Amino acid sequence: MGFDVEKIRADFPLLARTIYGKPLAYLDNGATAQKPRCVIETVDRLHREMNANVHRGLHFMSEGCTEQYEAAREAVRAYIGAGSVREIVFTSGATASINLVAYSFGERFIGRGDNVVTTEMEHHSNIVPWQLVCERRGAELRVLPFDDEGRLETEKLESLLDERTRIVCVTQASNVLGTRPDLRPIVEAAHRRGIPVLVDGCQGIVHGGVDVAALDCDFYAFSGHKLYGPTGIGVLYGKQEWLERMPPFMGGGDMVSTVSFTGTTYAELPLKFEAGTSNYIGAIALAEAIRYLGTLDAAAVARHEEDLTAYATQRLSAVDGLRIYGTQPGKCSIVSFTVEGTHPYDVGMILDKTGVAVRTGTHCAEPVMAHYGITSMVRASFALYNTRSEIDALAAGVERAVRMLRA
Ligand code: ALA
Repeated sequence: MGFDVEKIRADFPLLARTIYGKPLAYLDNGATAQKPRCVIETVDRLHREMNANVHRGLHFMSEGCTEQYEAAREAVRAYIGAGSVREIVFTSGATASINLVAYSFGERFIGRGDNVVTTEMEHHSNIVPWQLVCERRGAELRVLPFDDEGRLETEKLESLLDERTRIVCVTQASNVLGTRPDLRPIVEAAHRRGIPVLVDGCQGIVHGGVDVAALDCDFYAFSGHKLYGPTGIGVLYGKQEWLERMPPFMGGGDMVSTVSFTGTTYAELPLKFEAGTSNYIGAIALAEAIRYLGTLDAAAVARHEEDLTAYATQRLSAVDGLRIYGTQPGKCSIVSFTVEGTHPYDVGMILDKTGVAVRTGTHCAEPVMAHYGITSMVRASFALYNTRSEIDALAAGVERAVRMLRA
């Protein structure tokens, strides 16, 4: 299929805009990605032509939306390699997906004296829900560390696991370091003890996808908006054997079978976990994003993103006093850095004035900042539509910021 970045860019209308009169270089894709025209048009078309609540009506549009919503579930199932649509729960995003598991799994399976294992490189979304459940249930949160190069110290996992470990929670790709931990040995070590594994796939699914069956993880969470879909839609994959044993997270419409004051019974999977009106338009548009990605050559996309990462690393490394955090081979297209004698917020603001959008701050990963004894970083994160010339703009902007801030 080949790879023509300019052709791809033409599919993303927002990329053509300017910021302060400068061409936009959008390098904040780890936070959210821009949307291809087909996704934008799907949301627009549904609101104009086909909008009615799903699973709730016999009329033409309700049935039409329900059909498209369930087709979207099937598209997600196929995309991530799950065995059944019963294992695909639509949520509002990865944070909601992880909170769902933390609450529901925690209610049933985590008790006083138990422990949960997470890692030092997680996003807050894969830490705080577990802290909350551990506080509520009197359990302990254990942390698998990473080293200064950003390598997860998987060899220490065995020492954290015991007969009271209830779940292991790990990222597929760090949103700060770009590290993609080798998840197979983690899943195998946990499964040898009968412990389930939850994988935060937020960044990982965007850069290389996932096959949940091959990975054999028990839960997998991701957001639609980072995968070129709309905001407010996300997915929780869970193995049926776990989802069936977990109580509902939220109560309300659509998640019930029968309701009476003497007792309520719950809907079958996956609806048991989809209380209230779901974001069916978001789900259908997410399926459109997945369809769009299917028109591209995944291997060529991966090579392009690797090239951007290598080029950015080379260009930024040439800046005096610049330190990159996370240097693991095979990392995904995220480059986080600080520059001696400058504050990341100042660098970010100066970059913004040149049209370059990056993220600055803790990146919702304060333990990663604490690891390096700092409070913030600049992060450039690349998507399939970025170009080397945007990285040139980034490097030139950083050089300029350094000159101004050190003057
Ligand atoms: N999790 C998103 C990020 O890393 C918001 O920026």
